[in-house]
Amino acid sequence: MTDQLMYEDRLKGFDWSISEKELGYRKGDTINIGWHCSDRICKLGHGRKPALIWEDFLGTGKSFTYDDVRILSNTIARYVCDLGLKPGERICLFMDRIPELYIGFLGVLKMGGIVQPLFSAFGDESLWTRLNDAKTSAIFTQKKYVPKVRKIRDKLPELRHVIVVDAAGSPLKEGEHSFAMEEVPRVDHFDVFPSMAETPSVLHYTSGTTGQPKGAQHVHYSLISQYLTAKWVLDLRPDDIYWCNADPGWVTGTSYGIIGPWSNGITQVVLDSGFNTERWYAFIQKHRVTVWYSAPTAIRLLMRDGKDLVAKCDLSSLRHLCSVGEPLNAEAVIWSKEAYGLPFHDTFWQTETGCIVVTNFPGMPIKAGSMGRPFPGMTATVLDPKNFEQYDAPGRVGLIALRPGWPSLIRTYWNNPTGYANKFKNGWYVTGDRASIDKDGYFWFVGRDDDVINTGGHLVGPFEIESALLEHPAVAESAAVAKPDPVNMEVVKAFVTLKKGYEVNDDLELEIMNFIRKKLSPLAMPQEIEFVPSLPKTRSGKIMRRVLRAQEWGEPVGDISTLMED
Ligand code: WT7
Repeated sequence: MTDQLMYEDRLKGFDWSISEKELGYRKGDTINIGWHCSDRICKLGHGRKPALIWEDFLGTGKSFTYDDVRILSNTIARYVCDLGLKPGERICLFMDRIPELYIGFLGVLKMGGIVQPLFSAFGDESLWTRLNDAKTSAIFTQKKYVPKVRKIRDKLPELRHVIVVDAAGSPLKEGEHSFAMEEVPRVDHFDVFPSMAETPSVLHYTSGTTGQPKGAQHVHYSLISQYLTAKWVLDLRPDDIYWCNADPGWVTGTSYGIIGPWSNGITQVVLDSGFNTERWYAFIQKHRVTVWYSAPTAIRLLMRDGKDLVAKCDLSSLRHLCSVGEPLNAEAVIWSKEAYGLPFHDTFWQTETGCIVVTNFPGMPIKAGSMGRPFPGMTATVLDPKNFEQYDAPGRVGLIALRPGWPSLIRTYWNNPTGYANKFKNGWYVTGDRASIDKDGYFWFVGRDDDVINTGGHLVGPFEIESALLEHPAVAESAAVAKPDPVNMEVVKAFVTLKKGYEVNDDLELEIMNFIRKKLSPLAMPQEIEFVPSLPKTRSGKIMRRVLRAQEWGEPVGDISTLMED
């Protein structure tokens, strides 16, 4: 069966036209992600299949078939056109993970708009920066977020429409509209905008390490990558119940929380509530989730809460687990195998790549702690940072780079073509991450370029230190950063959070130091451990080492608009 082909078989004769053919796309055709994720699935005869099974934090549930999604996204597309909005205009979605967000995403694409999803948790300043940069014309939001929009409205002359999806009778100001997706007349037929491969689709703001956030500009042709990677890497099959933890405010939540599953005609479940181990397990059990796409930050919390909780639930529906966003510690892979009987498969990619680029392919032997191998059709390597040449022998740490040309690479940064051009060196797209490649072609993550620690001229990646720390039973999470040192320029300092039931004291620090000493080279040994109640993280769950680093150096922390505020 073609669906069960192994990695080596997929590599042979790979061409993206495999994906084009499956999607019925030929060069020069129109291609519209909104249409492909709804109308096409209905045309194939799956209109009555559930597309979205949704639940909020109170347990209230709703379910939408592919036909519902088709019609409701038409309804939104028609509404947006009737407001006078035109193809190419930026339309922001600023909502919690409610059905309007998922369906609105397709609706905007269907009318040719550029959809700009932003985390509903952003404060007014962060929101303003991104709406101002994109010169956004309209924003969909919820009643509770209207005050944030009102606060900045005067400074956004291009923002003509504020659309509130749950206003229900509450007073609105000029330029604010009430739109209840499920209450307005349903639009059965809508002439989908004839977008072409290179027509802009999604604008995702990604936070650089310093400076202003950048608008990563995707095009409709990205579908070709997203469809096939979702099918092959997430191993999606027709009867799957798929759960992606990510919020569509970041790229995992769109590439694999909307486009990937829906272009494959898969049923997906969404839980609009924060992290809670028991709640999550109950959700998996209730909906019989089969494929789960999560992130190390969540997995470490699940580990912290232990295997006893796993034993209390029936998670036997789970078939395939994947992870993205941060390095997946070996310990997490081993733990998940023990706890769920399934390892998490690491997947590596970026907002800019649009799709998974290096991964532990289903069926491929997993080396715990490794990111796996390039997706077929991707040429990935590591470059010597001095001259951007490929290393000729395995095992050396360099810059992860990709040969441009896969369908979902962004086409530019909004208003910032120079920033985009700077990502390319010597014919390679350079990711800004470091890794080594072993003799079997597996990639081993070392760290983000700017998180790498230079101690006495030796580069040390935070990942190996944090992974060693995580193996200690008391450690819940950790972050290793550079701290200034008169002799070595930089030395390693580790920030550590503890699991419940452990207390901070000198004995514990000594014990942890002794524990990792056996695992790490002397260079990588932290000179200091600081116990902290929590680590600074982005809203998508990434540990922000640079915030800790800046504290150590007394430097400005740079852009922190994506920092989680709790
Ligand atoms: C950065 C991209 C693509 C969705 C993730 C968020 C880090 C991502 C891994 C992984 C180690 C990873 C990298 C990358 N990252 N996946 N499997 N192992 N690091 O996208 O917000 O653009 O972040 O996340 O540093 O460059 P993003």
